[in-house]
Amino acid sequence: MKECNFGMLGLGVMGESFALNLERNGCTVAVYERVEGVAKKFADDRAQGKNIVPSSSIKEFVGMLSRPRHIMLLIKAGQPVDNTITELLPFLEAGDLIIDGGNSNFKDTERREKDLSAKKINYFGMGVSGGEEGALWGPSMMPGGPLEAYQEVEPILKKVAAKAPEDGEPCVTYIGPRGSGHYVKMVHNGIEYGLMQIIAEAYDLLKRALGLSVQDFQNLFTEWNKGKLQSFLIEATVEVFKKIDPDTGKPLIDLILDKAAQKGTGAWTIEDAANFGSAIPTLGAALDARIISSQKDERVEASKTLKGPSDSFPQAKKEELIIAVSDAIYASNICAYSQGMSLLRNASVEYNYNLNLKEIAKIWRGGCIIRAALLNDIAKAFEERKDLPNLLLDKQFQTYINESKNGLRFTLKTAIDLGIPTPAMSASLAYYDSYRSEYLPANLIQAQRDLFGAHTFERIDIPETFHVNWQD
Ligand code: 6PG
Repeated sequence: MKECNFGMLGLGVMGESFALNLERNGCTVAVYERVEGVAKKFADDRAQGKNIVPSSSIKEFVGMLSRPRHIMLLIKAGQPVDNTITELLPFLEAGDLIIDGGNSNFKDTERREKDLSAKKINYFGMGVSGGEEGALWGPSMMPGGPLEAYQEVEPILKKVAAKAPEDGEPCVTYIGPRGSGHYVKMVHNGIEYGLMQIIAEAYDLLKRALGLSVQDFQNLFTEWNKGKLQSFLIEATVEVFKKIDPDTGKPLIDLILDKAAQKGTGAWTIEDAANFGSAIPTLGAALDARIISSQKDERVEASKTLKGPSDSFPQAKKEELIIAVSDAIYASNICAYSQGMSLLRNASVEYNYNLNLKEIAKIWRGGCIIRAALLNDIAKAFEERKDLPNLLLDKQFQTYINESKNGLRFTLKTAIDLGIPTPAMSASLAYYDSYRSEYLPANLIQAQRDLFGAHTFERIDIPETFHVNWQD
């Protein structure tokens, strides 16, 4: 019997792909899947002739691993993770390492890490981004947990990770203690929601205002991907526009029902940011947009009676709008990343994660869903100022947003005139305009709070706290 130096538990598409990636990079991998026969089928099929050894029970699986054991879980987040840990525990020894590579809630990871460290078992919550393709050829990975345990697996993680296109650096770094890895992956997904919604709004506006065809979009996005908008999500959208439904011969995008689903990480990001007061309006608007999209029946009913404007867009200004929309995407993307990075900075203090934002930006340059040319500038901004509170305070980003903000305004004015919803782009501009305002009307909010609830207020001229009787 071969001794295996890595164990993969869970053989969905991610688990299988990750196991193949580990093997290609020199590991002998023990694999287990609770659904009977799956591990054997994988070994006989995709993993045939490779150093991948199937097992038919948890006991056999753990028994095949060299010590200290390194076991990665790629299973559904939530209760299945707790159940699996309970099943594994009787066979584990002090110093063994469990890595949860799923999209677990960071609070669950904190709890599990605490419980397991009391039993001397190392536990890692590791965000893995890049889907099936990434898992097989190189994902971006965000591991959080005990540093010494990370050091044991760092060499292999560096091998299996995506490599940044600019300098070939592996897209993995030690994120920090406890649930920090899953926290960073959660925020990655919050940003992912924002960027996706921004693209969807650009598509909607250009489709409805200019009547662009799917072929036009394919050409336009291909061009955009060569310039400042270069990113995985723009590139992926080109692929979407290319796909023809074999049964009808129509572009598949035109046949997909307009109801967006979600698995929870976006909502967790908004919830956590709200809990400790970090503003992420672009990300929040993207979540709300998914929720409203899913209320299809109500929207169909409302569309019959609620009227929008009847304006149409002058075709003579077609080129102007297309350029403005690309600027609008760019400016809104900057706002989405700014909010996400600020949230990470605030969370780092709140949870004592000691996050290195430069390194996080660097490992997002390859393999993950939010990889984009812009991440090099983000890494640079944090290299220049480690504790940068907001990307909008960085000189380079100020130049970028100054160059693109007029396009964002023109895009939004057009959308308002035509009655086309642009929640994430609108939230981005409101964020930008709020953030750059020395004065905001919060004096009135404070006065109202004090009037009805005696909540007190500060004055601009006297450094004390006041409450007055407003009815006098
Ligand atoms: C990634 C993705 C991935 C996530 C999907 C689905 O980084 O590879 O973030 O982990 O599961 O994007 O997320 P939603 O179902 O919430 O859209």
